[in-house]
Amino acid sequence: MRISVIGTGYVGLVTGACLAGFGNRVVCVDVDQEKVRMLNQDRVPFYEPGLEDIIRNNRTAGRLGFTCSLEEGIRGASVCFITVGTPSDVDGSADLQYVLAVARQIGAHMEEPLVVVTKSTVPVGTADKVRAAIREELEARGVQIPFTVASNPEFLREGAAVSDFMCPDRVVIGTDDPATEETLKELYSFLPPEKVLCMDIRSSEMTKYAANAMLATKISFMNEMARICELVGADVEKVRLGIGSDSRIGYAFISPGCGYGGSCFPKDVRALRHTALRHGYSPRILQAVEDVNESQKHVIFQKILRHFGQDISGLTFAIWGLSFKPNTSDMREASSVTLIQDLLGAGARVRLHDPKAMDEARHILEGRSGVTFVEDQYEAIKGAQGLALVTEWDVYKQPDFQRIREEMESPVIFDGRNQYSPQEMRRLGFTYYAIGRPN
Ligand code: NAD
Ligand code: UGA
Repeated sequence: MRISVIGTGYVGLVTGACLAGFGNRVVCVDVDQEKVRMLNQDRVPFYEPGLEDIIRNNRTAGRLGFTCSLEEGIRGASVCFITVGTPSDVDGSADLQYVLAVARQIGAHMEEPLVVVTKSTVPVGTADKVRAAIREELEARGVQIPFTVASNPEFLREGAAVSDFMCPDRVVIGTDDPATEETLKELYSFLPPEKVLCMDIRSSEMTKYAANAMLATKISFMNEMARICELVGADVEKVRLGIGSDSRIGYAFISPGCGYGGSCFPKDVRALRHTALRHGYSPRILQAVEDVNESQKHVIFQKILRHFGQDISGLTFAIWGLSFKPNTSDMREASSVTLIQDLLGAGARVRLHDPKAMDEARHILEGRSGVTFVEDQYEAIKGAQGLALVTEWDVYKQPDFQRIREEMESPVIFDGRNQYSPQEMRRLGFTYYAIGRPN
């Protein structure tokens, strides 16, 4: 099949590269000229394991190309995926300006029948808006070209994007047109048929938000349990094992921590809440999920104040892990940023380390004084009064504790991801604070 993918972010690039790997001819389009220039040299503008190799192999084989011209990108295509961003608008709703701009451009340039697929996460009803925008442009051109609009939300996780796309738990296709359904089923024929769930468009659009909201709810629920565990002297890690072993609950997404971040959970929970409000319903659970997460992002800072007292000005803190989760360079809504802002606001200094997110972090923190970026994780803790672990990259999981003790001014660790054993930390002579665990 000839496929066009509009927007070369995490979702667009992975979709385009993987579909090319199955023998389709794919052209990816982006307005960002620098990104397209890099991609045409087989360089991925962000860190995503495995992606660069797939792009290189498929580009070399002539199945994958990149361009800034949407007109060129959709020429000859029978399926066009929209994979541009849908960030939060000021009121919390999903900002559809990029999706609708692409829809208008498709209408302005398409020459042949086309299946247009929204893969971006979009509120219920967006397919209707996409359809209307394309139709308007076609009418303005005075041409009649048949097209359909389908929904095919993406469930991949950053850091595991390629394997999630290749082996998903399921693919959801939302369409009311049998021919469109067949076309998309054919595209996903690399999967067992029972993994492809077909439904109406609105249910498909809603499924994406419900999935992310459910996962975010599990995390906030566990973070609330962690708070209660601390008050009553229980260990949330034991509680986690105790409840996860119940197959009705499961182990996935019940790890407490210093809050969820990323480009999706925060914005999607907000957008779903906004949708509900717009329809006259005030969603209590979604509001609580957001509130718990907001306060959880400050939990390490509160522990720091409890340990050092309210005045921490002039103290230095090392932070290990800046990206919103391991195996990605993505800093969007990362918990590290909240902690850094809290510390700088209180007059402390920070020494920062991350295996892949240093460039993005530099960009975000540009111009802030009191911030030092350090390329070596042990160099980062030199002279620090406290070490905060915010993102559980593998390199932080079994560190040289002897060296940490020697480098730090005072051996105090604030573990935002419960990576170490409290008993072992005590034995090694550290003061150790975790999330929801007795000290
Ligand atoms: P991203 O921000 O990484 O990339 C979006 C890209 O679209 C950018 O490169 C931008 O330059 C490009 N773009 C914007 N307007 C354009 C236009 N008019 N024409 C061509 N390109 C244009 O986005 P992302 O993280 O891949 O997310 C895309 C969508 O997928 C969002 O709705 C997101 O919620 C959803 N999603 C993301 C993930 C994820 O893990 N990141 C997973 C599932 C779903
Ligand atoms: C998430 C979903 O997992 C994907 O299915 C979805 O496609 C994607 O959002 C999206 O819509 O963009 P992602 O944001 O890449 O994927 O990362 P996750 O692995 O879900 O982690 C999100 C955040 O939750 C991270 O900050 C992580 O540290 C936190 N988390 C995760 C916890 O605090 N506890 C957990 O048990 C799991």
